[in-house]
Amino acid sequence: MDKILVRGGKPLKGKIPISGAKNSALTLLPCALLTDEPLTLRNLPRLADIDGFQHLLNQFGISTMIAGSRPEDFGRVMTLSATRLTSTIAPYELVRKMRASILVLGPMLARAGEATVSLPGGCAIGNRPIDLHLKALEAIGAEIEMAAGYVKAIAPKGRLTGGTYTFPVVSVGATENVVMAAVLANGTSEIKNAAREPEIVDLCNLLVAMGASIDGIGTSHLTIQGKDRLHGATYRVMSDRIEAGSYACAAAMTGGDVELLGAKMSEMDATVDALRAAGVMVEESADAIRVKANGPLQALTLETAPYPGFATDMQAQFMAMLCMADGASVLTETIFENRYMHVSELGRMGADIETKGRTAILRGVEKLTGAPVMATDLRASMSLVIAGLVAEGETEVSRLYHLDRGYERLEEKLQLVGADIERVGAD
Ligand code: EPZ
Repeated sequence: MDKILVRGGKPLKGKIPISGAKNSALTLLPCALLTDEPLTLRNLPRLADIDGFQHLLNQFGISTMIAGSRPEDFGRVMTLSATRLTSTIAPYELVRKMRASILVLGPMLARAGEATVSLPGGCAIGNRPIDLHLKALEAIGAEIEMAAGYVKAIAPKGRLTGGTYTFPVVSVGATENVVMAAVLANGTSEIKNAAREPEIVDLCNLLVAMGASIDGIGTSHLTIQGKDRLHGATYRVMSDRIEAGSYACAAAMTGGDVELLGAKMSEMDATVDALRAAGVMVEESADAIRVKANGPLQALTLETAPYPGFATDMQAQFMAMLCMADGASVLTETIFENRYMHVSELGRMGADIETKGRTAILRGVEKLTGAPVMATDLRASMSLVIAGLVAEGETEVSRLYHLDRGYERLEEKLQLVGADIERVGAD
């Protein structure tokens, strides 16, 4: 199993190209199901989760062609063609490896009038139920059956009717699933208390480019007039605001000065506000965001919330960044019930963090010390790399499959800005 070795103490300086957004790509890919014409997606990140999703779509008979790109390029162009489907079943052995597979449920149901998807099960950060996905689909006409660890959704008479659904809590994935189902319904759908994440806007923009009718894009109230069919499109995936925020924390923590190429300030206001509150200089240029350390970091009080609040996907990275800040920081994780798996590993590097339920209290320490640490989930693994970039000595991060799910060529990007980091195969 590969490991990452990082030796701390180097301020990050230079430019980092930001890749296409994983959490947008994972909802744009299943849109290929919604048309029998080719869908071309540009700026797709090279990530394990994208490869996994491609493999899942191939199972349904969807052809996927990746346009030639030089090895040194970041991102890929993929053309997907769902001319004819050979299956409507997403099997357990694929879904269990990647819970985002549940995002085929809505579009497959819309396209084929039925869909059967293995229940995704939980993951390290929480049990991750899908009840809201199912309730939203039922509200627009689906009939749902559960059996043998699978959920089967059927559109009586072969087509969804449309309808109205108000989410009791904000859910990114459930919003994505119901939007992808509603665009082909035989009627209008009103989705209220919908998630407003930039990735949802990216999804709606792609669907409109394919001929869908969606009003209220970017708001929590979406009105979707179903169409009889959608056509193909060529679309560029948005930049990854979480990857950009992660590298911003690394630059801030190492006393660096980094330009994040392709990052958009408008998609990461809460992250930028938090960085500035910690004393970091952040400014936007034409197609980049510059992040420059500006003296010692200040402690913060942060609470995660649905967009436009402070992103739960940034919590672990800020926790690492604040380990050496002046004073005590308080972080509260309101979205997932178990998203502090990185706390014990950061503690092994000398961080002073105490958790009480969903709240973590960090007391700034003078230094961190490199140690062998273990990644437990995607964002936790990035927090360990960030800590290693400033820790004295060498940090060895294992279980990199977590990291490879969400960060394209991480060590190469950090080497671009002077980090002393390398990936080694385990002996
Ligand atoms: C998406 O997960 C992201 N994943 C997550 O990013 C992100 O943390 C999360 O949204 C919140 O922003 C992708 O986009 C692939 P939710 P999702 O439905 O859709 C509960 C990363 O690190 N809930 O908004 O699964 C749920 O348990 C990943 O890139 C239900 O109760 O998140 C959670 O407490 C991690 N019932 C809350 O809602 C449901 O049916 C928010 O979950 C669905 C969700």
